[in-house]
Amino acid sequence: MQIMASPAGLVGLGLCFLVLVVEPLGAYGSSRGSLGGIDGAAAPVINGICATSVTTHGYECQEYEVKTQDGYILNMQRIPEGRVGGSGGGNKKQPVLIQHGVLVDGMTWLLNSPEQNLPMILADKGFDVWIANTRGTRFCRQHVSLDPAHPEFWDWSWDELVTYDLPAVFDFVFNHTGQKIHYIGHSLGTLIGLASFSEGHQADKLKSAAFLSPIAYLSHMKTALGVLAARAFVGEITTMFGIAEFNPKGQEASVFLKALCDYPGVDCYDLVSAITGKNCCLNTSTVDLFLKNEPQSTASKNMVHLAQTVRDGIIKKFDYGRPDYNLMHYGEDRPPVYNISNIPRDLPIFVSYGGQDALSDVEDVELLLDHLKFHDVNKLSVQYVKDYAHADFIMGINAKDIVYNQVVQFFKYQQ
Ligand SMILES: *[C@@H]1O[C@H](CO)[C@@H](O)[C@H](O)[C@H]1NC(C)=O
Ligand SMILES: *[C@@H]1O[C@H](CO)[C@@H](O)[C@H](O)[C@H]1NC(C)=O
Ligand SMILES: *[C@@H]1O[C@H](CO)[C@@H](O)[C@H](O)[C@H]1NC(C)=O
Repeated sequence: MQIMASPAGLVGLGLCFLVLVVEPLGAYGSSRGSLGGIDGAAAPVINGICATSVTTHGYECQEYEVKTQDGYILNMQRIPEGRVGGSGGGNKKQPVLIQHGVLVDGMTWLLNSPEQNLPMILADKGFDVWIANTRGTRFCRQHVSLDPAHPEFWDWSWDELVTYDLPAVFDFVFNHTGQKIHYIGHSLGTLIGLASFSEGHQADKLKSAAFLSPIAYLSHMKTALGVLAARAFVGEITTMFGIAEFNPKGQEASVFLKALCDYPGVDCYDLVSAITGKNCCLNTSTVDLFLKNEPQSTASKNMVHLAQTVRDGIIKKFDYGRPDYNLMHYGEDRPPVYNISNIPRDLPIFVSYGGQDALSDVEDVELLLDHLKFHDVNKLSVQYVKDYAHADFIMGINAKDIVYNQVVQFFKYQQ
């Protein structure tokens, strides 16, 4: 069985940043040291995200471990209050859960200065901020019985993020705060939120949702490199697919990317732009920091699933590529569809998308909005940022003024 591990994925799509990875960067530890208690007590994570990126700026920060129903142990950070105690007054602070995209982890939110990054801005505005990290990323490589060195650990796609990761972190935050949660997703973090909420999950724990640079429909993706990669990736599936770690910093990934860049019409001169679109507002120092910390591994199956979404133009579960295999997994010969129109119409939703975003293409976002056309009018706010591309929403130096302040306002309006 051939593992398509490869590289193809690389370009797969979320590709958010992989882009940057032509040269393999320094390796990060493949697993963590011993972990503290699961569920409940803050766990001691040496050199974790709190220690490297949050407390250094004078914020309180707690590390948690959350176990999913299928045995993965996820790492989460909580910034319970602002530097000056926040502005929440005497009232209980409202929890916000922030979910990153594919091939990165929660640290990407924290690379800009405290005045510019989303979690710290929210904390300073009086919110109780929780940062999620998905399975497979550097601090989420533990499982009750599986080992990341073995393929079984990597047998999942974004369906499992919908079915297991998201419910685990929602339950955890809800249990700790006793309050409904404001959700923020970027990129793949939007897709898993949309899919989950469309199935009616988290309804009792969710207060509102903000989708930044949403990806749902992907068939209008403009980047030649992304399209080519997605095609290569699904093209490699025949009857069997490989289950493996997809490490964008790996040798294979870099070789593959270089090969794609030789195709006519693919311009990799500026790789970031080639994949994410032309970001207007990134700080080079922040990008350097990003490259030191990201990208992160995901499962090859996850990249294939994303590539299927590009190919098929439908948001559905992982396609095993053969009717009999699908039957075995789903009881139907085709994968079940996530019907975005089923998202509860009274769920307060904020959507922000960019005119330069090559992954979250304007036409695809319009298709998404079309599926929300029966949403209660006063529950849906949409913002279009003409100059923004995919990464500006997480690292833009002016994202506070352009996007985050609107998110804060939107959340406050729901109180
Ligand atoms: C949350 O609390 C419920 C009820 O006490 C419990 O069943 C569940 O396991 C808890 N979940 C987490 C993630 O702590
Ligand atoms: C870019 O990042 C550097 C290092 O954090 C910082 O000193 C500088 O002020 C930032 N520039 C802008 C425009 O935010
Ligand atoms: C999706 O859900 C909407 C609203 O609930 C419904 O009208 C529509 O028929 C559904 N579409 C499919 C393909 O099931």
